[in-house]
Amino acid sequence: MLIKTASDGFNHSASSDITPQRVYAGRRDLMKLMATGVAGAAMASMAARNARAQVTRAGKLAALPGVKSGVAGALTMEPVTAYKDITSYNNFYEFGTDKADPAENAHTLKTSPWSVDVEGLIKKPARYTLEDLLKLSPQEDRIYRLRCVEGWSMVIPWVGYSLSELIRRVEPLGSAKYVEFVTQADPKTMPFVTSHVLDWPYVEGLRMDEALHPLALLTFGLYGEVLPNQDGAPVRIVVPWKYGFKSGKSLVKIRFTDRQPATAWNKAAANEYGFYSNVNPNVDHPRWSQATERRIGEGGLFAKRRKTLMFNGYEAQVGQLYAGMDLKKYF
Ligand code: MTE
Repeated sequence: MLIKTASDGFNHSASSDITPQRVYAGRRDLMKLMATGVAGAAMASMAARNARAQVTRAGKLAALPGVKSGVAGALTMEPVTAYKDITSYNNFYEFGTDKADPAENAHTLKTSPWSVDVEGLIKKPARYTLEDLLKLSPQEDRIYRLRCVEGWSMVIPWVGYSLSELIRRVEPLGSAKYVEFVTQADPKTMPFVTSHVLDWPYVEGLRMDEALHPLALLTFGLYGEVLPNQDGAPVRIVVPWKYGFKSGKSLVKIRFTDRQPATAWNKAAANEYGFYSNVNPNVDHPRWSQATERRIGEGGLFAKRRKTLMFNGYEAQVGQLYAGMDLKKYF
């Protein structure tokens, strides 16, 4: 994020198509029918044709059993960004700082076995294996906007469940005010954690009420399949009303604390990346405006920029969390 090549602060990718939401939804419905064994071979070949037409990629990842989300605000009617853009234009500095690096390098990430330690100010600290986490609550399909601090955005069909499902089970103490998210930093499988670009591991944090908000998603997949490595496999956080960097990838520890966690980007440049980092078109980054964004997949460099929405369009759902706060001070 500190590395910029264009006036709006990021590397531009080539333009590409976008998958309309209804096509994606139709494909999921077909996959579900096939899973129940109701549909026959004709249906299967139709689904395969649809999938191939809309989503071009080398291999297929394991399917996750998502159902349509019941959480208000989780679905948007905007077209979903193409799978190939979501998986080839990434920020995952453990694998390099160029947008294309994670797709190229993240194959070395070892995602099994995997566990997440849940600890700190809670009654029930525990180590959860990935399998434990997958079983903990039903997976939902959630289509969220992701707005990066650099000025681009995507619409991503995630699969996961509200982080609050896990938080409830571990019974936080009254003294727990914040949640810290620590992600994997393994120099053997993540080539760039030996670099000094950030102070590893990549750490993020939320206030307790933010972490408990139903929109905050413990995320295992996208496009109905397990997460590709470059998108934060096997489990990540997605906080749709905050800039993308708050959504830590390849999570290994969740710690409940009474102090605001020191987060990776805040430690790197405190005047540029605050703890809150709510998407806010009225508060500029010190080096560029946050008023507009470029939707990845929409006509490349010459596409009209969109207006960035307060809290990334989730103001009705999350605005109340910040009532009375000076968001210029707590940026
Ligand atoms: N998590 C880790 N561990 N390392 C990172 O470099 N980058 C963040 C966030 N999570 C990052 C991370 C940033 S800047 C963004 S915009 C999002 O991941 C990008 O997520 P995506 O590549 O799935 O779109």
